[in-house]
Amino acid sequence: MLLNEYIDKAKFSFLNKYKLRKVTSNIEPLLIKKISDITSNKERIFDKLFNKHGFFIYCLDNAIDFSDSSKRHVSLKIIKALSNESIQLTKVSYPYEKEQEFFDGTTKIKNSQKIDSKAMTSQYMEYHQDGLGNGGEIDVIVLHCDSSSSFGGQNGLVDGIKLFKHLYDVYGEKTNCLFEPDAITIIRRGSRKSLKTVGPVFYTNYDGKPSINFKYPDEKHDVFYSKSCEKIIPSISKWIKTDSNHIKFLLRDNYGIIINNREILHCRYPFLEKFEKQRLLSRSWYTTGNKIDSYGYYPGLFIGDSLMNLLHEEHDLKKVDGYYRYDRQTNRNIKITKVWK
Ligand SMILES: [Fe+2]
Repeated sequence: MLLNEYIDKAKFSFLNKYKLRKVTSNIEPLLIKKISDITSNKERIFDKLFNKHGFFIYCLDNAIDFSDSSKRHVSLKIIKALSNESIQLTKVSYPYEKEQEFFDGTTKIKNSQKIDSKAMTSQYMEYHQDGLGNGGEIDVIVLHCDSSSSFGGQNGLVDGIKLFKHLYDVYGEKTNCLFEPDAITIIRRGSRKSLKTVGPVFYTNYDGKPSINFKYPDEKHDVFYSKSCEKIIPSISKWIKTDSNHIKFLLRDNYGIIINNREILHCRYPFLEKFEKQRLLSRSWYTTGNKIDSYGYYPGLFIGDSLMNLLHEEHDLKKVDGYYRYDRQTNRNIKITKVWK
């Protein structure tokens, strides 16, 4: 397939997806009193998550009792109840999970000095997707709030499908450059976890699902765009920052959000906490495909087979395979055998 043919097809799938989108003014959570509240709402939840909004919010009833002999976090049980034959949500483990003070199958997001990650601070986190280096295969993120902050700590969401529609309305065929294989280059700096990814901003995966690949530069990441994309990028930022295009909400205690990471960008506002009430979110990642089975460190994206041959060589592995590290001197990712910790 020629690149232009691919782009036309990919644009079509974004525009088709846009038709399913709904205006989100009501983000009332589903109150879950018992596990059957989830099973009886599966279709509604999946419709919101994969079609209408790209996310879904729930709220656990205080009296809910999910206890059993395992020490699994309640949010994992919700996802387990959601999985069915047609949509399997397979958990992707994060390396730090098991090194936490207590392990319940989730990663604890809290203001901590121990881990060198912006997520583990109380600072503003710019709009982003999770799982850079996992081939774009973190499909679903669950953020469950065990304890909210005293002030701030809201999350924001931006819809990548609506973003594309806006750009297409304004720029028409000029948006083609955003589907090209070298549209965006993201370099994560650092000695151990450095990685360079080069890919499209908008693409379709091997199942033809519209997917976005976007990140703002921050203290750990450099972001560059191809020459032809440079003119459009300021419009992306402007659109994202316009109040009416993002949703801002606070996860209260026992609230959780399930986000479609392929289509939705999320951010976090800064927060303050008092000693006796620390903000604590439990996060877990899921894939709906079979391309990854554990957290990876891979420079490519799983773009549909027909396009792979046209793309950067690092997109063509069949499965996330090992870990890579970016070498600044040669400007290449080098496969490493030793897993970083
Ligand atoms: Fe995140």
